[in-house]
Amino acid sequence: MVPRLCPPRRPLAWLLAGLGGLALVSLLAGGTGEELLAWALGPFLGGEGPPLPPDLPLPGPGAFLLPNAGACGPRAPFLLVLVASAPGHVAQRQAVRASWGGARRAGGQAVRTLFALGAPGSGEEQAQLEREAQRHGDLVQGRFADTYANLTLKTLLLLGWAAAHCPDAAFVAKVDDDVFLNLPALARHLAARPGPRPLYLGRVHWWVSPTRQPSHPHHVPASVYPAGAFPLYCSGTAYVLSREAAWRVLGATPHVPLVAPEDVYVGLCARWAGLAPTHSARVAGAAHYPLDPCCYGEVLFSVHQVGPRAMRAAWAMTEAEPGACSLLQRALGVLRCKGLALLEDLWGAGSQDAWAPS
Ligand SMILES: *[C@@H]1O[C@H](CO)[C@@H](O)[C@H](O)[C@H]1NC(C)=O
Repeated sequence: MVPRLCPPRRPLAWLLAGLGGLALVSLLAGGTGEELLAWALGPFLGGEGPPLPPDLPLPGPGAFLLPNAGACGPRAPFLLVLVASAPGHVAQRQAVRASWGGARRAGGQAVRTLFALGAPGSGEEQAQLEREAQRHGDLVQGRFADTYANLTLKTLLLLGWAAAHCPDAAFVAKVDDDVFLNLPALARHLAARPGPRPLYLGRVHWWVSPTRQPSHPHHVPASVYPAGAFPLYCSGTAYVLSREAAWRVLGATPHVPLVAPEDVYVGLCARWAGLAPTHSARVAGAAHYPLDPCCYGEVLFSVHQVGPRAMRAAWAMTEAEPGACSLLQRALGVLRCKGLALLEDLWGAGSQDAWAPS
């Protein structure tokens, strides 16, 4: 009788041990188990999408006031960041350029940051924008009125621009102009992803209901979207699409009604294309995260509502060698940062440096 070398006596125990090991590795490496959960559940949340559409709805030359068609070159970056900005937000753009947006390499990868805008109300403002574009070479401007209600058009424009003029970038991120982005941490994270599975990464909103009040800026009539809740989608303050995911979203746009806000629209397009969002707790919401070197320098990918002084200070924290966190801080990860934000909110200190609501 031949002895069996490895009798599969307790397959369930082995499976549990394996899963436990994976969870531990994920917790230690990323400071959060949520990404592991998304990775494990991903195949069940969204199926394979339709094949890449042969003719993507790319914007024609007439779609742009400032097309800036060469801005991605001469070699496409690994990560292209498109910042949704408004014509009047000159100071916000300056703060981004002076911090993370000025970097051409981050986390060992080539990166490029550009600003996406619509048209201002006056010729004088347009002339100012053209001077700014000439000086910095980082503006992409669409031919539509730059209004809050047109933010969805801005997202369509920036996705179209990326597909038309930067198709070789491996990832495209869309962020708002009051967001601090930890480019090195994000680029490292993206580069370490195994395999080419399409990615739609951000802070996932669950089971959000459409607003049915006609006076609300995000009003979605039942005739346009009858269901009681939107599919899962990534918060619009900061999200990342892999090249293929961005193409799929763009390919879905002719089939999906233009609803506001833009992040819901992208979520609807992603759903149409069979793309499930991946949640990351490291993409932070609008809580007041105090300027903690470990949170800003290493743990969080993005923080919303960061003023110009904090933007520069936070960017300096990403340059700490070997890292900004102690071992204990790293193990506590996002949890510790959320605790700090909670304390800040409880004491009512708030950030003195945030942008005034406009
Ligand atoms: C959106 O932009 C278009 C094109 O410029 C303009 O006609 C329309 O009024 C804008 N919509 C809103 C709600 O601002």
